[in-house]
Amino acid sequence: MRKIMRLELFLVVSALLGTACKPLSKVAGRNKLLLISFDGFRWDYDQDVDTPNLDQLAVDGVKAKYITPPMLTMTSPSHFTTITGRWVEDHEVVHNMMFNTTTNQKVPHKETLKRSEWWDNGVLPLWITAQDQGLKTASFFYPGGAAKYRGKAVNRVLLEEPNHKDDNETEWRQNINTVMRWFSEEDFSLVTLYYGEPDNVGHAKGPDHPDRKKIIQQIDRTIGYLREAIEQHHLNDSLNVIITSDHGMTTVKKRPQVDELILNKYLNLFQLASFEILDYGGFGIITPKPGKEQEVFDALSMAPNLTVYKKNEIPENFHLGKSERLPPIVVVADLGFNLNSRIIIYVNKGDHGFHNGEMDMKTIFRAFGPDFKRNFLSEPFDSIHIYPLMCKLLQIEPAPHNGSLTVTEDMLQHNGGSQNARLSVALLLSMLLFTFTTL
Ligand SMILES: *[C@@H]1O[C@H](CO)[C@@H](O)[C@H](O)[C@H]1NC(C)=O
Ligand SMILES: *[C@@H]1O[C@H](CO)[C@@H](O)[C@H](O)[C@H]1NC(C)=O
Ligand SMILES: *[C@@H]1O[C@H](CO)[C@@H](O)[C@H](O)[C@H]1NC(C)=O
Ligand SMILES: *[C@@H]1O[C@H](CO)[C@@H](O)[C@H](O)[C@H]1NC(C)=O
Ligand SMILES: *[C@@H]1O[C@H](CO)[C@@H](O)[C@H](O)[C@H]1NC(C)=O
Ligand SMILES: [Zn+2]
Repeated sequence: MRKIMRLELFLVVSALLGTACKPLSKVAGRNKLLLISFDGFRWDYDQDVDTPNLDQLAVDGVKAKYITPPMLTMTSPSHFTTITGRWVEDHEVVHNMMFNTTTNQKVPHKETLKRSEWWDNGVLPLWITAQDQGLKTASFFYPGGAAKYRGKAVNRVLLEEPNHKDDNETEWRQNINTVMRWFSEEDFSLVTLYYGEPDNVGHAKGPDHPDRKKIIQQIDRTIGYLREAIEQHHLNDSLNVIITSDHGMTTVKKRPQVDELILNKYLNLFQLASFEILDYGGFGIITPKPGKEQEVFDALSMAPNLTVYKKNEIPENFHLGKSERLPPIVVVADLGFNLNSRIIIYVNKGDHGFHNGEMDMKTIFRAFGPDFKRNFLSEPFDSIHIYPLMCKLLQIEPAPHNGSLTVTEDMLQHNGGSQNARLSVALLLSMLLFTFTTL
């Protein structure tokens, strides 16, 4: 009789424990996460170059055929979608440059990285959500990392110096060493690490230039270095790594192959527009003067090699239309056509900002570490789904987001850390139970 009562009591206690211990069991199986972004790494950049380390990653981990960035295919908007899991219309980082359509103020990209008022629009990035749940996080040059969100800063932030050289391989390795120390000596759980290549080379030389292949080989060596560093810091079994990017790159079409676009040929920008950002790749925004919206729209509709949208008629699957910041007119050029305003000042040989359905805008996804399957080739998916995957890996409660874990969870080992931990708690309890009942 007493024995049975004790058994019942114990069952109740263990049921209670089961709930109460959840956070504990979670911590026990939690691995660390490094998110690396190589800006402008087109999905197929490794296919015409020898990349032994990237190839080995595909064997040791997960490779997606390619992934699709959000509209718009630009550095800050896309990176912020990855780290928030929200569409651009929700997070409102609608350009690399902060702007004000009333004052005509435009802040350059590097400067914008420091301006919280551009980034902090009510949507919380992963760093802050993870910190709120007790984890230590850091941003190494990652866009949005230097802003404050609801007054909160990321635990540790490094921001690129002005005139920072993007392609210094020695510095790339030093940065990896730094990040490894943060993980192994200071117990950071999440670090996001950003590299400005191969975007720079892609713009300056074009995606087909031999120098683009060289920088991909430099990236490949860096990934080899990363894997050695992980081993030296004894992080093989506790660090998951995701390697991705924000968009692809396409060759800019120039004379005599095509007639380059100069929008002022189709509408008098000075007379019809009060604000514009053109001359910035394949994506443009225009605020017509009061009452001139239809005139601007009609004039641009006559222009070749681009699509003009009224903001309230933007296709829903762009997930841009609800943005308050976007001006009333949005222009997307056909692949390879840059949107020049008055003269062709844009000397880039490669560019992005084009429709995310274009293969040239697609980008990469690789992952490896204790929670990932080996030799797993994933079908293509939207970059928005990286966010819930990262939350799952870190075992934190995600903030509201637009991604879906079902898209990416197949790439995870079935008995990942958390399940192992829960399993051992259950095992422990049943052993205790056995001891009690046989007393
Ligand atoms: C733009 O600047 C004006 C004048 O300084 C200011 O009133 C307005 O709030 C600014 N708009 C935005 C969206 O920041
Ligand atoms: C590259 O980075 C290393 C380490 O930070 C530095 O010592 C070196 O001067 C840099 N090289 C160039 C060309 O900037
Ligand atoms: C760690 O991973 C590397 C591959 O990057 C492998 O060569 C090494 O054997 C692993 N070390 C351990 C201790 O598992
Ligand atoms: C650009 O537009 C012109 C005029 O409509 C057209 O003839 C040409 O085929 C277009 N070019 C491309 C590459 O689509
Ligand atoms: C994206 O997620 C937010 C937050 O849950 C939600 O308000 C919004 O409606 C979602 N957007 C779409 C297109 O589903
Ligand atoms: Zn770029």
